[in-house]
Amino acid sequence: MAAPKKLYIRTYGCQMNVYDSERMAEAMGGAGYVETDRPEDADMILLNTCHIREKAAEKVYSELGRFRALKADRPDLKIGVAGCVAQAEGEEIMRRQPLVDLVVGPQSYHRLPQMEARLREGGKALDTDFPPDDKFDTLRQRPRTRRGPTAFLTVQEGCDKFCAFCVVPYTRGAEMSRPPARVLEEARDLVARGVREITLLGQNVNAYHGAGEGGDWGLARLIRALARIDGLARIRFTTSHPNDMSDDLIAAHGDCEKLMPYLHLPVQSGSDRILKRMNRKHTAEGYLRLIERIRAARPDILISGDFIVGFPEETEADFEATLDLIEAVGYGQAFSFKYSPRPGTPAAERPQVPEEVKSDRLQRLQALLTRQQRAAQDAMVGQTVGVLFEKPGRLPGQMVGKSDHLHAVHVTGAGLAVGDLATVEIVESGPNSLGGRIRGA
Ligand code: 5AD
Ligand code: SF4
Repeated sequence: MAAPKKLYIRTYGCQMNVYDSERMAEAMGGAGYVETDRPEDADMILLNTCHIREKAAEKVYSELGRFRALKADRPDLKIGVAGCVAQAEGEEIMRRQPLVDLVVGPQSYHRLPQMEARLREGGKALDTDFPPDDKFDTLRQRPRTRRGPTAFLTVQEGCDKFCAFCVVPYTRGAEMSRPPARVLEEARDLVARGVREITLLGQNVNAYHGAGEGGDWGLARLIRALARIDGLARIRFTTSHPNDMSDDLIAAHGDCEKLMPYLHLPVQSGSDRILKRMNRKHTAEGYLRLIERIRAARPDILISGDFIVGFPEETEADFEATLDLIEAVGYGQAFSFKYSPRPGTPAAERPQVPEEVKSDRLQRLQALLTRQQRAAQDAMVGQTVGVLFEKPGRLPGQMVGKSDHLHAVHVTGAGLAVGDLATVEIVESGPNSLGGRIRGA
């Protein structure tokens, strides 16, 4: 038998890309490829790319440049670009970087094996369709290999919200939800392969509305059904839009034990004037009231957010309103960015804020958020939390895992194994993680 061909995938951007890369590897497994973590050994290199900000998109081209020497040594090496840059730029990628053999968008990667066959015949391959066939259906036959204790599972994809800064509605397409029966089937399969924690993914995951028994299911109903799977210990979901936080989903945070006390709920700005220009369709006050209701259901919930500074026409007063909102919420985790104009989005055409102003605001915003994150982490000392252990730590006998609130926690000398879920008393708070000792399993 011929030695299997080797596939190297590099993933950029969001968690959905991580999930998509796994599925691409599985699809190519069917075409005789095994994964390698060394690009030098690969017969095919795939970059699964992100288009959300200019920097992320530019990284792809500098990375491709670096593969030129590899391709010169081994002309048979195939190089492909997948993901949102592939969707947004299509053929332009092959024009700009002729060493690229294959371009595949996020909705057509189930066709990779056929595309690879075309490459073997000496051609190039491009597919950025939004095909009517469901990629998830084509990808249903999954290998029975063991998995680590945590996994992502895409339940919803695409977005119809059209925030004025965002490329996602163009690169990922219109909103769609997978049927609950399919999600449950995939979740059971993951659990049978060793997974104990599943993070449900979607660009607007809380807008989930899968066609199931008795009509459309919302995300809360899906979570409650998943919670009945024996062996599945933890459920998370990301990313949510404030306007899709239903009463039932808020209630689930209070009454569904397997749903973890962590919620990523981006607000982007604290200024109503900017929120309106962003087409967010909610106010700062509306967001704050929502957070209050969520905290009433689950008082210890850790709130995480995304922020953009320097959106077109953002004034100092608008920016200060964002700082005020952050003060009012108290974030345990946050991601913040300078506004990056994206071609084809409405905000890219509006009067831009100077780069130095953006940098200054980002620095001030991050200083506040870092203080809050630190305080939230330090406040865990003395508390008892669940920790799911994911990998050995740097010290002998040390294991690291994630707490219910998604803090990294390390424990030493307790004879723990990967996949153990233990009750841990937090005894110290370091720069990037908490230290704990076992209280029970
Ligand atoms: N510029 C800067 N940040 C952006 N985001 C989305 N589009 C842009 C953009 N054009 C941020 C938002 C979003 C996160 C995934 O990325 O904060 O929630
Ligand atoms: Fe982008 Fe807004 Fe849709 Fe989120 S809700 S993916 S920020 S358009």
